[in-house]
Amino acid sequence: MEIIIASRAGACYGVQRALNLAQKAAQSGGDVQTLGSLIHNPQVVAELAASGVEAVSKPEELTASRAIIRSHGVTPQVREGIEQAGADIIDATCPHVLRAQQAARDLALEGRLVIVVGEESHPEVEGLRAWAEQAGGQVVVAATPDDVPSQIDGSVGIVVQTTQRREKLDAIIDVLKSRGIEAEIRDTICSATSTRQEAAAELASQVDVMVVIGGHNSSNTTRLFEICRARSPQAFHIESPDELQAIDFKGAQRVGVTAGASTPEDQIESVIERLRSFAESQEE
Ligand code: F3S
Repeated sequence: MEIIIASRAGACYGVQRALNLAQKAAQSGGDVQTLGSLIHNPQVVAELAASGVEAVSKPEELTASRAIIRSHGVTPQVREGIEQAGADIIDATCPHVLRAQQAARDLALEGRLVIVVGEESHPEVEGLRAWAEQAGGQVVVAATPDDVPSQIDGSVGIVVQTTQRREKLDAIIDVLKSRGIEAEIRDTICSATSTRQEAAAELASQVDVMVVIGGHNSSNTTRLFEICRARSPQAFHIESPDELQAIDFKGAQRVGVTAGASTPEDQIESVIERLRSFAESQEE
């Protein structure tokens, strides 16, 4: 049984950076909390809790002297709340998200209606909206072209949730163009999501079994799984190596592996190790 890992898989730059910062903070004496779960990965959250880094849901709940802002970033109000709680900020906002926040603010300062392309309830989008509003901007969140207001007066700027697909942005640009509106576009899409999806799709169609690793509560891992399932009925979403027991590898010559952007390297390694031991036992 051959085990093939997708050419792009696992923790993206921003998630890995957040993890490194949290682990470093835990090692340097603890007394640190995260604002919200650091990533959508129950094992990582449990490991951090075991090393003393607990998650709180709002600044008023902070009791530690240091607070970690996760990779999605926060609103200016939450940032102020942390400062008022007297905690020092460890800022793990992904640099790509910071760039999007800056773009949202700039477009608002230029007096434009700011259209945020993204999912209304996503924490990153809540942040983008809040940064633009703080700069005096009018903001509309658009998940689809139907969300673009029918009446627009004045100039428009577009900023995009970093994990959105380019087709969504294009659809919104097209609807504006059809109404004669040329928007100022800040393309803040990060390629980490699409490159993982493309690599997973390619591999899923070449293997007998496809294993997708990541939190069951992780939307990017679930999306990866859906993409693989569409290409192979033998695609499985697992969180830990123990879940491999339920998969029938009989007759499988090639097994593909991918992992969501919130899955750290050691979790991928532990699944691959277990797969190797399956492969060895098949050969005996
Ligand atoms: Fe950052 Fe892109 Fe990951 S925005 S958190 S590197 S998906």
